[in-house]
Amino acid sequence: MRLPVRLTNVQQTLLLTLYLRALESRSTTPVLGDPMAERLVACLDYDFTRFDSKRGDPLVALRALSMDRQVARFCARHPDAVVVHLACGLDSRAWRVDPPATVQWYDVDYPEVVELRRALYPERPGYRSVAADVTEPDWLEGLPGDRPTMVVAEGLVMYLPDAEVERLVTRVVGHFHEGEVMFDVFSRVGATVMRCQPSFRATGATIRSVLPDRRVVERWSPRLRFIAERPVLGEPEVVSLPRKTRVFYTVLRSIPALRGSLRTLHYAFSDDNTHS
Ligand SMILES: C[S@@+](CC[C@H](N)C(=O)[O-])C[C@H]1O[C@@H](n2cnc3c(N)ncnc32)[C@H](O)[C@@H]1O
Repeated sequence: MRLPVRLTNVQQTLLLTLYLRALESRSTTPVLGDPMAERLVACLDYDFTRFDSKRGDPLVALRALSMDRQVARFCARHPDAVVVHLACGLDSRAWRVDPPATVQWYDVDYPEVVELRRALYPERPGYRSVAADVTEPDWLEGLPGDRPTMVVAEGLVMYLPDAEVERLVTRVVGHFHEGEVMFDVFSRVGATVMRCQPSFRATGATIRSVLPDRRVVERWSPRLRFIAERPVLGEPEVVSLPRKTRVFYTVLRSIPALRGSLRTLHYAFSDDNTHS
């Protein structure tokens, strides 16, 4: 029997990203490959055809791949790391990155989403899911603050008001002793394009935050130091996409106003940064 899905608008966006990863995974030459997404789509009692686009859009898979790479690099460098995966949705990042059990991994999302996750995912050593609204302060209290920590949020901050994004980032940077924080943002053009997509409109969600300038984030805390800004269209795997999509993305990324439509922002945080 398939599991019923009862999610509100912003929560429903996780079904769109899940479906796009499943479609990409089913393609003949996937760049990400996410068999868990394929399996979950088959397990849910939900009409995914409302998101249909004939070939799917591999941008979500490229974004996931880019973030997986950074999380895997962090875990390889810090076998005692804590990974805090905010707004995890039904994403299988912990399974794709597959860190050793010495890494403590926390997947965080709304209670309705975490309940669904718990019904679908097996347990794994070092892994816990946390049911919380990330804009509330208390969920952080149970998480260890004294280990190198990677905080990753994919497809989250665009749904929060700007002031909440700042509060969230300063809160996590204040709780954990040292580490890195990474999240993706739309440019104004990217947000406009997204708002016009029928598949996105089908979720009923609203895009609230656009961060036009990476330097804005550094001003939120003296503990933050910029590491990198990565346009998703700039990922090296674009060259491995099917021909039509590859040509389309190559044209898009050659246009400066479009190249950064969707990009990840990546920062380090520690007390050391306050002295430099
Ligand atoms: C676009 S989906 C992304 C899900 C997942 N990261 C992925 O890539 O498939 C947005 C996610 O943000 C979560 N979310 C939005 N606002 C949140 C909040 N205030 N607290 C916890 N989760 C939130 C939603 O429940 C949803 O799972």
